[in-house]
Amino acid sequence: MKNKLQIDGINRREFLQKSAKYSASAFLATFGATRLLGASHTPVTTTTIENVLLNNGIKMPVLGFGTLYLNGEEGKRCVSDAISLGYRLIDTATIYENEEAVGAGIKKSGIERDKLFVTSKVWVDDSGYEKTKKAFETSLNKLGLDYLDLYLIHRPRGDVKGSWKAMEELYKEGRIRAIGVSNFEQNHLQDLMATSKIKPAVNQIETHAFFQQPEANKFLEQHNIQMEAWSPLAQGRNGHFTNETLASIGKKYNKNNAQVSLRWHYQRGIVAIPRTSQKAHMMENLNIFDFKLDETDMNIISGLDLNTTQFPEWE
Ligand SMILES: NC(=O)c1ccc[n+]([C@@H]2O[C@H](COP(=O)([O-])OP(=O)(O)OC[C@H]3O[C@@H](n4cnc5c(N)ncnc54)[C@H](OP(=O)(O)O)[C@@H]3O)[C@@H](O)[C@H]2O)c1
Repeated sequence: MKNKLQIDGINRREFLQKSAKYSASAFLATFGATRLLGASHTPVTTTTIENVLLNNGIKMPVLGFGTLYLNGEEGKRCVSDAISLGYRLIDTATIYENEEAVGAGIKKSGIERDKLFVTSKVWVDDSGYEKTKKAFETSLNKLGLDYLDLYLIHRPRGDVKGSWKAMEELYKEGRIRAIGVSNFEQNHLQDLMATSKIKPAVNQIETHAFFQQPEANKFLEQHNIQMEAWSPLAQGRNGHFTNETLASIGKKYNKNNAQVSLRWHYQRGIVAIPRTSQKAHMMENLNIFDFKLDETDMNIISGLDLNTTQFPEWE
């Protein structure tokens, strides 16, 4: 019989309940199942990452790996390293110009395709029905895959409804396991949902300690759309990695600022996709399932919200 601790898919509500209410020791057993492999001197750890159930019933890892700026050989190495450490969600996009590198990294890792959750995104220039269909095939070819787990409209610009129609068809054909959006505000989502046949499964938006997006979080939760944080570490902007508030919270648990932030996303029920080129940071960012921020910590972090983007140049 399946042990409760081995259940691999939870819905969004359960994700929130578990992440917010379980004790640290329960987390260690449930979500931080870490296996030690390799030589005794330089142990290689792989971490098993919990999944959340999306609104169409498919599982998405609660923590993933971002690949912005990871191109060429570096991109290939990073993706392969990340997978070897236990990351299963890999986030790329046409505009990152690294789908080939990501695909090469996946291939190098040797992982079975069905163990991975690969996301890509259709860029603004390819908006509209025909262009999105074509862009999707190009992305797949570059990645060397025959389906995507998640395909997102990167920004709410151009012919969004045409793109969505193409994505709905690709979804029905089984070429994409879930479809969603990115950088959509409430009005964009309402407009899309008013005419779409399929509701977005995910909205990937800027979210970090300095731009916490509580209203978006509430809206997405109400509509059972999974919130996913891009730049979950604010790319280090605004002194994220030296922030004294995060550091003093981290000190209590022997965790650094990145780990405190990633744990905070997790306890808010938000999927985060930190990017790093360093294997040590990849490991650190996975090592967030053996402690729990208490209510006071969560409230203190809430106080860091500046309620504004840290990426005005991308507006
Ligand atoms: N949908 C969208 O519009 C959109 C926009 C932006 C990003 N994204 C996605 O979100 C992903 C993550 O966002 P991001 O890449 O902008 O930024 P991020 O993940 O918030 O931060 C990345 C930066 O943090 C550093 N870092 C990571 N882990 C660290 C650690 N443990 N300690 C210290 N420094 C650490 C990295 O440097 P090192 O390499 O030195 O570790 C890198 O400079 C992207 O890669 C991309 O996949 C999507």
